[in-house]
Amino acid sequence: MTKADIDAVYTIEVQSFRSPWSKHSLLGELKNSVAHYAVMERDGDVIGYCGMWVLFEEAHITNIAILPAHRQNGYGKQLLHASMRVAASFGAEMMTLEVRETNVIAQRMYGEMDFSEQGFRKRYYTDTGEGAKLMWNRNLQKTIEKNACLEGMYLLESEAFKKGERET
Ligand SMILES: CC(C)(COP(=O)(O)OP(=O)(O)OC[C@H]1O[C@@H](n2cnc3c(N)ncnc32)[C@H](O)[C@@H]1OP(=O)(O)O)[C@@H](O)C(=O)NCCC(=O)NCCS
Repeated sequence: MTKADIDAVYTIEVQSFRSPWSKHSLLGELKNSVAHYAVMERDGDVIGYCGMWVLFEEAHITNIAILPAHRQNGYGKQLLHASMRVAASFGAEMMTLEVRETNVIAQRMYGEMDFSEQGFRKRYYTDTGEGAKLMWNRNLQKTIEKNACLEGMYLLESEAFKKGERET
């Protein structure tokens, strides 16, 4: 994600989340040295994005969303797989995230990518009072390899990723 993507990413935010991040917050992430944000493009248009913070061996997903019109085409899983590869290239071995207890669609996707619930925070989301499921994937490499078939479905373009791969 670059500054030029912020408007498109904000549009996805607004269409995907009850309490979307502001453009200001998204721009702030471009200056955050632990943050890695990827946009997914199709025919030149941004249709999804995924953000994470990578701190030592842990990657923490901050947000992942696909534009409503492009959902249920496998893009969410491809984007998550690509983000796992980027995280691993920066040394992450595990990945974690919080998900609303009622968001069964996202929970299903995470389950398919080997995340399991390992904690619960009551009333985590102040807008609805919902709790958050804390999900973990403790073996990123295994999931990346197990789902290697997804690699043929997208092209990962990232200078940072290429650099990370060269170094590993
Ligand atoms: C979660 C999200 C990113 C999934 O994107 P997507 O492109 O539709 O996902 P995919 O097509 O790759 O599907 C991945 C899996 O999610 C699950 N899934 C997706 N849509 C579903 C639906 N309508 N009903 C039930 N399960 C669904 C399935 O398990 C699916 O795998 P399968 O097709 O092999 O069965 C998308 O729904 C989204 O942007 N939601 C709003 C934002 C959000 O909730 N983000 C997560 C925050 S924690």
